[in-house]
Amino acid sequence: MENLKSFLDKDIFKIVASAAREIGVDAYVIGGYVRDRIMDRETADIDIVAIGSGIELARKVAEKLGDNTRVNYFKNFGTAMLRHHETQMLVVEFVGARKESYSRDSRKPVVEDGTLEDDQNRRDFTINAMAISLQENDYGRLLDPFDGIGDIERKIIRTPLDPDITYSDDPLRMMRAIRFATQLGFTIEEHSFEAIHRNRERIKIVSGERVTDELNKIILADRPSYGFKALEKAGLLQIIFPEFVALKGAETVEGKGHKDNFLHTLQVLDNLSEHTGDLWLRWAAILHDIAKPATKRYDKKIGWTFHSHEFVGARMVPKIFKHMKLPMNEKMRYVQKLVLLHLRPIVLAQEEVTDSAIRRLLFEAGDDIDDLMILCEADITSKNSAKVRRYLKNFILVRRKLVEIEDKDRIRNFQPPVSGELIMETFGIQPCRDVGTIKNAIKDAIIEGIIPNEYEAAFGFMLEKGKELGLRPVGSRQ
Ligand code: CTP
Repeated sequence: MENLKSFLDKDIFKIVASAAREIGVDAYVIGGYVRDRIMDRETADIDIVAIGSGIELARKVAEKLGDNTRVNYFKNFGTAMLRHHETQMLVVEFVGARKESYSRDSRKPVVEDGTLEDDQNRRDFTINAMAISLQENDYGRLLDPFDGIGDIERKIIRTPLDPDITYSDDPLRMMRAIRFATQLGFTIEEHSFEAIHRNRERIKIVSGERVTDELNKIILADRPSYGFKALEKAGLLQIIFPEFVALKGAETVEGKGHKDNFLHTLQVLDNLSEHTGDLWLRWAAILHDIAKPATKRYDKKIGWTFHSHEFVGARMVPKIFKHMKLPMNEKMRYVQKLVLLHLRPIVLAQEEVTDSAIRRLLFEAGDDIDDLMILCEADITSKNSAKVRRYLKNFILVRRKLVEIEDKDRIRNFQPPVSGELIMETFGIQPCRDVGTIKNAIKDAIIEGIIPNEYEAAFGFMLEKGKELGLRPVGSRQ
């Protein structure tokens, strides 16, 4: 069986070049692949542009590669995707060069065949518009009409044409500009940035899924705060994620201020991103204080409070996920849970760390306890370094206790040692409130350390509790 490596070893570029020659079209490698090769980054899929039919070229290439490929043709778009047949990994995407004209009031592009220059003109950024020739006479030559190489050196994101035109072709490119700048650590050239601000309202015509895809790529960058600040400065964040912008600002009353929760949240996100590449844990950081604006009060005696912001925040999560077209599944519930519990380890670290408080936290957080601890540690952003040190020291204690108690009591994935069925069978009762009351009492007794997390002890406790409720054991267990 052929694996992907040997498939690629066949030198895909040589095969494309000879296929192109045979059908009489010119072909170029273009876009992200060229950029990433020049920047020495890991490369993703290869984009090939044909000066002629991309579909025909793909067909010829597939013919040459034989059984190892699967090709999907998208005739309406004039594109084809070639994948390795086993891994389904995308290997090459073919497209015919285009000259596109867009009318400002229509969302539908009018696509015409074009030259390589036409195609490069209509690409998003100079660094994504570089092409490499696959023609025999200049095989391997770089065609870089907008000095993409120079922009890579200068670390600049810039549109090839007037940015108003480039963005109006596809307003998602405004998000892409900020996404590439964040991923690559580049700056967006002044005119290209100003045009984002000017055209920001046009992001509304782009589907929520595409916008969120780009936002997630920003969130997954090494320093996501960079992208969020740029999105805010460009006026895009206000449109795509207003709840987040509401965190901005620090009010002062009677000389007492509170911290800017926008900047605080971004710092938490950056801190956390040093420890995890998990998108959903990063989303939990983004949303952990989301209800602070809604719960903010000023109290003459104690100053600013954000009472219950963790509960209100957890309730806001589904609405935000729905609106952002994020998945309404266990990922959403995970984020919700972390938002709800995000203050608990901090409170623990401030007070005496009792075994029962640790057990209760383990019970509620379950397997997400480690992620919760990562979030809470990232949440310590005070400017007072003595305070930060003290908190972090307490956290070490909390972590140690967590391990100790978990080893002893195995609360993390708590399964009640006595089931509801056994309670009903023992007392000869049908499902009713008493069953829940007894189950809860057993759980609380274990958490409070009154009984160990074991069958015998729990069974005895159940009998006692049943008696209190006026129940008598029946049958063989009497
Ligand atoms: N492109 C564009 N405008 C868009 C999307 C894509 O001009 N809105 C062009 C760019 O030339 C880009 C190429 O199509 O390089 C491929 O797009 P895509 O696969 O989305 O991006 P990559 O540049 O490959 O980068 P990444 O893989 O990080 O998304």
